[in-house]
Amino acid sequence: MSRMYPFEAIPFSFSISCLEPAICADVTEEHYLGHYMHYLNGLNDTLAAYPTYQSWSLTKLAAYHCALPLALRASIANYAGGVYNHELYWHNFQEYCCQLPKAVGKLALAIEDYFGSFSNFMCQFTETAQKMSAPGWVWLVVENRTGKLTIESTTEQAAPLSKRFSPILALDLWEHAYYEQYQSDKACYIENWWHLLNWDSIDKLFGQATNPQDCEGLFTLACLPQHKQKQTCINPKDCSTNGEAVATGESYYTSKHQNICANSCGNNSHGSTPYYNSKSCHCRKKQK
Ligand SMILES: [Fe+2]
Repeated sequence: MSRMYPFEAIPFSFSISCLEPAICADVTEEHYLGHYMHYLNGLNDTLAAYPTYQSWSLTKLAAYHCALPLALRASIANYAGGVYNHELYWHNFQEYCCQLPKAVGKLALAIEDYFGSFSNFMCQFTETAQKMSAPGWVWLVVENRTGKLTIESTTEQAAPLSKRFSPILALDLWEHAYYEQYQSDKACYIENWWHLLNWDSIDKLFGQATNPQDCEGLFTLACLPQHKQKQTCINPKDCSTNGEAVATGESYYTSKHQNICANSCGNNSHGSTPYYNSKSCHCRKKQK
């Protein structure tokens, strides 16, 4: 499923008061109606004058804004990123749980694999968040080329999609997300935020990020058919000046294709199975 212009606000699947006491209802309401809607309206207003790009999905806009005309690029990066990031942030939530929720399923195994334990992962994620001094986000992402789980941070409304990551967990560290309730006690906000996470849902996102599909998910890019894999950047000149999104001549969707082993480690013996899903593959440990 993907979303396209004109973008409509996603409804909460729960009452905003259900996030209390971690995030009080007033903060959530202002976050949703004020900040999220600002990005949503800005995105629609910007695209209204550019029908050529109205067929682009939210995920594609957030990932490939560097391929857009220069006059559009900064606005789309800000607005599409702002919409995408906030929707993932809320998508990760469930009703506040007193007992700390923990990762489940294949994601739990992957977290143990890459971070040693769930508690180590929590410590590293929290430490990254504490070090953030500018408005931005901290993420758990799947690195598209390798399938590796990593913790990333971005400033403003930059979305990790543009850096070839598939984000599955988002922590909003703009002051509007917590300051009214916690003032400068960001540590307390982060500690309580862990109690809102729906790891069943996050595990499903992990599955979508590591198992390519022909259609887009709400937060993941599509895997193009084989014959389209060699498609190159829409505007290589524009992309090459950005330096972080789609490199000149590279496939849009290189990450989730069956040729990723050949791209990243030179071993193309894994057929159509992404090597990060193959227990017999030796590449994964080399990448860690
Ligand atoms: Fe926010």
